[in-house]
Order: sequence, then C-alpha cells, then structure tokens
Amino acid sequence: MIKRLLVTGAGGRLGHLLREPLKGSAEILRLSDIIDISPSRPGEEVVRCDLADRAAVDTLARNCDMILHLGAISGEASFDALIQANFLGTYNLYEAARKAGVRRILFASTNHVIGFHPVGEGLDDRSERRPDSLYGVSKCFGEDLSRLYYDKFGLETACLRIGSCFEAPKDRRTLSTWLSPRDFLSLVRKLIGAPVIGHLVLYGVSANRDAWWSNAHADFLGWEPQDTSEPYREKIERREGQPAGGSHYQGGRLATKGIVGKR
Ligand code: NAI
Repeated sequence: MIKRLLVTGAGGRLGHLLREPLKGSAEILRLSDIIDISPSRPGEEVVRCDLADRAAVDTLARNCDMILHLGAISGEASFDALIQANFLGTYNLYEAARKAGVRRILFASTNHVIGFHPVGEGLDDRSERRPDSLYGVSKCFGEDLSRLYYDKFGLETACLRIGSCFEAPKDRRTLSTWLSPRDFLSLVRKLIGAPVIGHLVLYGVSANRDAWWSNAHADFLGWEPQDTSEPYREKIERREGQPAGGSHYQGGRLATKGIVGKR
C-alpha cells in the first residue's frame, strides 16, 4: 500500500464519492480543495488550498507518493476563470509534484478534449484531439503538460478522459458516455496499484453497448468495467424519442454552445 495519496478537488462530486472507498488504497489520504471539506477522520488529512497559489501547492504535495488530481473548474467557464484553476492550478501541481518526488498522478481529464468528433466515430488513445470548449482546451493543456513531465522527469500520469460519472445515465448521449461510480473507483484502484503505467491516456467509460471509445491499448492494466447503461436505455429512449434531436457531436451541448463571454 502506498503511504500518502493526495486528492485535489476532494470537496467536489467525485471527491465525495471516492472519500470512503479510497481508504485502503493508501495509509493516509490527504484531501484538499479550495472550499471547506468536512473535518478529517482517521487516516485522513484535510488541507484547504487554492491550486492557483504556487507556494501553498508546493507545501500540499510534500510527502505524497501519488496524486489524484480532480481539482478544477469542471465545465465550460470564462477563459479568465479557467486560467487560474485549470491552467495555472495544473501547472503548479505538476511542478510541486516534481519537486516533492511524487511518483504518479491520475489526472482527471475529460471527454471534452475529443468532443468535436461526431457521434458514433470510434476513438482510441491516438485519435486526434478536438476540444469542444475552452474547458476542453484547458484539459488538453493538462494532458500535454503531463506528457512533458513524463518525458522530461519520468513523472508518471494516467490521463483519465472521464465520460459522464453519475449514479445513472441522464439522456441519450450519456447512454454512450456513462461511467458508473463503481467502475470509476475500480479504475482508480487499478491505476494506484499498477507497478508501472508510464504515460497513459484512458477513457473513463463503463461497458456501454454504444460506447465510442476503446481502451484496448491499456489491456495490461486488467481493468474490466462491470456496469453498462443498458438497463436505463428503454426509459431514456421513451422519454427522448428518436435520435434526430440530439447533438451530432460526442461532446454534446458543449460543442454546440458559444464561447463564454463571446457573442
Ligand atoms: P466538481 O466541480 O464537483 O469538483 C471539482 C472540485 O475542484 C470542486 O470541489 C472545486 O471546489 C475544486 N476546485 C475548483 N477550483 C479550484 C482551485 N482553484 N483550487 C482548488 N480546488 C478547486 O467536479 P467533479 O464532477 O467532482 O469532477 C472532478 C474532476 O473530474 C474535474 O477535474 C472534472 O473536470 C473531471 N471530470 C468529471 C466528469 C464527471 O462526469 N463528473 C466528467 C469529465 C471530467
């Protein structure tokens, strides 16, 4: 078991979901967010930290073996907001990790780095990125930064292009992109436990019938998603009718929406 796992963005949706189940993956969970998190329980350390504050992030990463980097603005926003949390925050985290000798980062990327590919097109880790939003661009930056830190410094990263991680799929698009919380947890555990991962790009998606993304290149991990969106299909299709109304793009509404602050 690793000694200390830092989780950024631990006060958010996915952070809450993983807080209890991740115990057992590390002796100590260091939970951090810019917002207040409920006080630490046994086996936890809680640290409030703005990822845009370089000195604070340097301190945050000290004595950590691995990092699950969830902290970010998690949807489309103004460029100025994304600059702080997603661009500067991710840079600060990688620099702090390098200086602290962190071995591995699991970087919460997003499907919105490939969101302008049309619905139905099969993609893998080598497919061209086509971000559908400034948010998607900010995660492309994180993916590229992680590649630089692997090639230059040997700092391992798994870029997790998370689909839609909710209790259940919500609409026709998420029948393809759904990642069940259980599958997300098992993926994170596999990535923490793997002896070597190098630099990996992975799609965070359950075993959905109409998934567009392949993780065949990462078979060595032995991760097998257990859940599928099929049980939700009938209800969603009945509610939404024929596919014609949906977005043509894998990123859904983010691809068709304008840029925040621009007309
Ligand atoms: P969330 O928005 O609930 O949580 C993100 C957390 O990051 C929040 O608690 C927020 O306070 C924190 N944060 C924002 N700016 C910060 C800053 N400057 N310093 C420190 N912390 C800051 O998002 P969620 O759903 O938990 O997602 C976690 C990660 O996974 C995000 O990076 C998101 O982009 C990514 N992701 C999530 C998906 C999903 O289906 N939930 C899909 C694709 C990607």
